[in-house]
Amino acid sequence: MLRVGVMVSGGGTNLQAILDAIDVGAITNAQVCVVIANNPGAYALERARKHGIEAVCVSPRDYESRDAFNQAFLEKVDSYELDLIVLAGFLVKIPEAMIGKYARRIINIHPSLIPSFCGVGYYGLKVHEAALERGVKVTGATVHFVDEGMDTGPIILQKAVEVREGDTPEVLQRRVMEQAEWIILPKAIDLIANGKVK
Ligand code: GAR
Repeated sequence: MLRVGVMVSGGGTNLQAILDAIDVGAITNAQVCVVIANNPGAYALERARKHGIEAVCVSPRDYESRDAFNQAFLEKVDSYELDLIVLAGFLVKIPEAMIGKYARRIINIHPSLIPSFCGVGYYGLKVHEAALERGVKVTGATVHFVDEGMDTGPIILQKAVEVREGDTPEVLQRRVMEQAEWIILPKAIDLIANGKVK
């Protein structure tokens, strides 16, 4: 059974998609052991608790330096002996020491078709604003392994989503979540849990 930890910063709809997929058997051989947020107000923590899953917050604000936070965060993650770390809307840069230690064991969901609209500064709604600004007709989402770069690691799954006339960033964000993110993130976890992606 793959021990999974999910890292979150916000609403946690991707977390919810993972939990639902486990409940209905769309993800097998995996259990979510912990949900870790970087801010105490993240609704994702509430979703985890409602599901009977341990929900903890490690906030940079509680530490006097970034190094101190990074160390505390890594210690917390290590303590759960995880096989897979899922960044599901986690907006904190993963410490380099952690990337080395968990090589090919950290995956991230990004709300565009990488290499479009990714890298520093592209997160959340900003990604969809940029896509609309550029006038692309197709966007989507990507699940990839996390390496030292920003959104540069090996791609596991992608799914395209149509941009429609009159889309606002909010409307497009919701469509990308519904038609891509909530499908490919659980699928990637299932593939990894069943040894189909290494
Ligand atoms: C999702 O759209 C996810 O792809 C994005 O944040 C949102 C989190 O929503 N992640 C990034 O932009 C990472 N660069 P959620 O909390 O409802 O899952």
